[in-house]
Amino acid sequence: MVRYAAAVLWALAAAAAATAAAVANSGAVNKFPDGFLLGAASAAYQIEGAWNEDGKGENIWDHMFHEHPEYAHNGENGDVACDSYHKYAEDVEALKGIGATAYRFSISWSRVLPTGDLDVINQAGIDYYNNIINLLLENGIEPMVTMYHWDLPQALQYIGGWPNPLMVDYFVEYARLLFDTFGDRVKWWTTINEPYIVACGYSSSGWQAPSQNAPGIGNYLAAHTMIRAHARVYRLYEQEYRATQNGKVGIALNSDWYEPAEDTDSYLEAQERMFQFQLGLYAHPILLDGDYPAVVRQRVDNNSAAEGRPRSRLPSFTEEEKQYIKGSADFIGINTYTTTIVEPGDSGGVPSFELDTGVIRYQNESWPGSSASWLKVVPWGFRKLLNWMSNEYPGYPIVVTENGYGDWGELDDQRRIDYYGSYLAELLKAINEDGVNILGYMAWSIMDNLEWASGYELRFGIYRVDFNSTDLARIPKASASFMGDIFRNKTVPDEYFQ
Ligand SMILES: *[C@@H]1O[C@H](CO)[C@@H](O)[C@H](O)[C@H]1NC(C)=O
Ligand SMILES: *[C@@H]1O[C@H](CO)[C@@H](O)[C@H](O)[C@H]1NC(C)=O
Ligand SMILES: *[C@@H]1O[C@H](CO)[C@@H](O)[C@H](O)[C@H]1NC(C)=O
Ligand SMILES: *[C@@H]1O[C@H](CO)[C@@H](O)[C@H](O)[C@H]1NC(C)=O
Repeated sequence: MVRYAAAVLWALAAAAAATAAAVANSGAVNKFPDGFLLGAASAAYQIEGAWNEDGKGENIWDHMFHEHPEYAHNGENGDVACDSYHKYAEDVEALKGIGATAYRFSISWSRVLPTGDLDVINQAGIDYYNNIINLLLENGIEPMVTMYHWDLPQALQYIGGWPNPLMVDYFVEYARLLFDTFGDRVKWWTTINEPYIVACGYSSSGWQAPSQNAPGIGNYLAAHTMIRAHARVYRLYEQEYRATQNGKVGIALNSDWYEPAEDTDSYLEAQERMFQFQLGLYAHPILLDGDYPAVVRQRVDNNSAAEGRPRSRLPSFTEEEKQYIKGSADFIGINTYTTTIVEPGDSGGVPSFELDTGVIRYQNESWPGSSASWLKVVPWGFRKLLNWMSNEYPGYPIVVTENGYGDWGELDDQRRIDYYGSYLAELLKAINEDGVNILGYMAWSIMDNLEWASGYELRFGIYRVDFNSTDLARIPKASASFMGDIFRNKTVPDEYFQ
């Protein structure tokens, strides 16, 4: 019954906020608020190439795809990718072409610190990111920097990677270098991109680096370190940089909207568990009380005991850690693409994250699809997710740090246009009708790039890159002019609101 009472309060609060928002926006539901950041995103390993040039160190993706070409589609890898290490000026031209006011990109840790540690600082890597940041600012584009988008220096994986608690100190020292070097110009930082997926690299072998097969254990240890690392970096910024640099520090989480297959208690509880295990595992400690959601704590502890273990597979935070973790974000980033249906039930082996959730996930085959098996086009789920987050984590503004559509690379990409049109309409309804506080939207991605283990076949770009060509030119797709109109007009066409 508590659930229903909360839902009623949420509805009342949303109605009140919607009234205020409607007044503020004079009822223009199709318009973005003033100052709203509209841009596109990328990640270092997916675009830079130059994997061993000018002093860059090896990272876990270089290592995995060189050792195991069979893990990637056609044995492809990021050795060359879009060659953004040399062609970043063309990336900035592409961003100007769509009228972007922000660019979310990541710094390759092993390009600036080849060993992951401060014993070697690679000036060529620092110069590269200075050049990008300066060129963006000259063109009126706000840099939004991801410190860690999955590409751990291999030297740090040799000592265990994220399950090693010492990784907190390495990450804090790396972050200090970034604040010292770029913080005079970079005002938007996200620490870690999709820690949920990073953790998957420690729970199975295969597609996600570093491909460590410790299901139900390695993923929680990695999560635990990443939460502490994020929070320590936030406190570092707060204590030593914010007064002079005046920027914002957040984290980019990822989730689908989870739609219960039935509107009954056990299904609604499964939906709640899925959100708490995926988003809440990170967002609850960071944004609410410094600790894991109660349902996660209880289920993993209980399953661990039933397996005859002397300790829970999910570590605990000390009281001191809870104090510095609680409230350690200025905004919450969300990467989201699709909706998934949930129902109560068991899947996955003993032990595993899947089994701990007690949730079965699948998609509705009648929803329109894309060229990615996992990406169904469900725009209404986007609005629901934004509302769920706003309700669960009140007081934290949201930035949509990734959202986009995968196809086979056609230049006349009408399906991508319809995806963006319909998803942006739902975003605007969340802002202007539901009163959700959202500061920006970053489309994934500015150009076709290495879609990790899916290689170069599955394409998310607003610009096409022909990876067999010698010049790797950025060629605008139809969606580039569509997004350019939206970004310049600050308006989504009416037809997408029907
Ligand atoms: C705890 O685990 C046992 C054994 O797996 C299970 O039967 C029981 O339902 C669990 N209890 C809770 C509260 O999750
Ligand atoms: C799947 O989608 C169809 C069409 O929207 C709908 O009728 C059906 O109820 C959905 N099934 C589930 C399990 O959500
Ligand atoms: C490059 O060309 C080869 C041969 O035509 C083709 O099989 C491959 O898919 C192409 N790769 C990309 C990334 O376009
Ligand atoms: C954007 O504005 C231009 C010029 O005012 C107009 O022609 C175009 O239809 C608008 N596009 C969208 C998507 O609103």
